[in-house]
Formats: sequence, C-alpha cells, structure tokens
Amino acid sequence: MKNIVILISGTGSNMAAIVRAAEQQRWAERLDARVAAVISNRPDAKGLLTAREAGIATAAVDHKAFADRQAFDAALMAEVDRHAPSLVVLAGFMRILTPGFVAHYDGRLINIHPSLLPAFPGLHTHQRAIDMGCRVAGATVHQVTAELDHGAILAQAVVPVLPDDTADTLAARVLTQEHLIYPRAIGDLLSVL
Ligand code: GAR
Repeated sequence: MKNIVILISGTGSNMAAIVRAAEQQRWAERLDARVAAVISNRPDAKGLLTAREAGIATAAVDHKAFADRQAFDAALMAEVDRHAPSLVVLAGFMRILTPGFVAHYDGRLINIHPSLLPAFPGLHTHQRAIDMGCRVAGATVHQVTAELDHGAILAQAVVPVLPDDTADTLAARVLTQEHLIYPRAIGDLLSVL
C-alpha cells in the first residue's frame, strides 16, 4: 500500500478534497494508495479535526517548540517517516523546509501554490496579481525543490481576475480550482509511483 502523508497549517480544505477524492475514486482498490496521516505544524489547525473525523491518523509538530528550522524539520521528518510515505503532500503548509528535508523526500514531495508559477512565488499572491493588473490568476501543483515555489510543474488551473476582485474573492475562486487539480495530480502521480 502506498501511503500518502499530508502536511497542513490551517483549514485543510485541499487536504479534505484529497481525502474525499481518495474515497470517491477508491484509491485503495484502484491505486493501492491511502491517506495515512495528516500532520500540522500548528496544534490548533482546523484541518486536524477534519482529518480525525474522517478516521485519519493525525499529529502536530509545533514549530514554536524548536530552537531552529533544522531541529523542527528533523522532528517533522521523524513523524512523517513513521508512516513510510510514498508521497508527501504539502497542502497549505506554511513553513519553509530545509534543503535536507527536501532532499530526503526527493521526487515524492509536492506542493500546491496559489499562483500561476513561475509568477508570484511566496506570499500575498492574489493581491500581487490584482496590483499587477493580471487578467488571469490560478494555482500550480509542483514538485518541491530546495528553492521556494520552484520545481517541475505537474498541473495548473487558470481563473479570470474580475474588475472588482479583492484578494479574498480571487482567493476563493482559485481555491475552488485547487480542490479539483490537486487530487487529480496526486492520482496521476500515484499511478506511476
Ligand atoms: C491554499 O490556497 C494553498 O494554495 C495555499 O494556502 C491555502 C491553504 O488552504 N498555500 C500556500 O500559500 C503555500 N505557500 P487550505 O488549508 O484550505 O487547503
């Protein structure tokens, strides 16, 4: 069985979309894969509750409890590796990972970013797209490399930017598409892993 470990920091709506797709599309039978665990760097992340309600193992590794990034990443790695993952999925995980962590999961660590990469890596993507006068925005699923929001692109979705959009209205439109492309990209990847 291929284990998927999902890392979150907050609401976990992408995680929930992946869990839903795994159930509805019967990944266990069709792809020999399952969501084995959901792990957050924030003990109060709403998504942990959602995952527990879906019967998935959860854990929190609180970044505030560690002196530096290296120590946090080592603890996170130990927690992730307990589940022997074939795929590690960042889904709204808002911590920058050390090169050592990224190298450890080379080729099996993916992320979703709320912009059309390579445009707008980093934070505040929606406001930056509006400020630049972009006519379209979107989201990107990509392999994670040591460079932030880089790595081979696996899937993208495009949405229009409307004249009276705010960062929030645009984010909501993009998020709807994230929920479609992320499970699809993971399903595609699992079938070749
Ligand atoms: C999503 O829009 C995701 O693309 C973004 O955070 C949101 C998490 O929502 N990720 C990043 O900004 C990563 N740098 P969710 O917790 O409801 O899935």
